[in-house]
Amino acid sequence: MGNLVRFGVSLEKKLLDQFDASIRRKGYTNRSEALRDLVRADLVVREWDKGEDVVGVIMLVFDHHHRELQNKITDLQHRHLSAIISTQHVHLDYNNCLEVIILKGKAGQVRRLADLLQAQRGIKHCSLNMSTTGRSIA
Ligand code: NI
Repeated sequence: MGNLVRFGVSLEKKLLDQFDASIRRKGYTNRSEALRDLVRADLVVREWDKGEDVVGVIMLVFDHHHRELQNKITDLQHRHLSAIISTQHVHLDYNNCLEVIILKGKAGQVRRLADLLQAQRGIKHCSLNMSTTGRSIA
């Protein structure tokens, strides 16, 4: 860690109490570490905007019996091959499949594939998580 700088923050008592309760539930033992993580999380989002490379995970739950859906999902991935690192398919139960796609690329490219997948009929759930290594963040 670099030079530590202390600074004062003014907060309404009620808001601070809620913050303390929230970070306690998450397992933090002090406010400073919780605040550092919040600041880092905010800066990671800014990195996306600067066109930095991100890693992304798309999670899909879809209807196994939906006509042509698996083909469309696979086809979309073949068309975005340069961004895809790995795909795992799990047959959840008789009716449902789970697919987890791990990507690396520009935030816009990763988000675009997630949007295209989400728009397919028969998709029951589609979520996208993105992160960076935080290279430019302390
Ligand atoms: Ni399956």
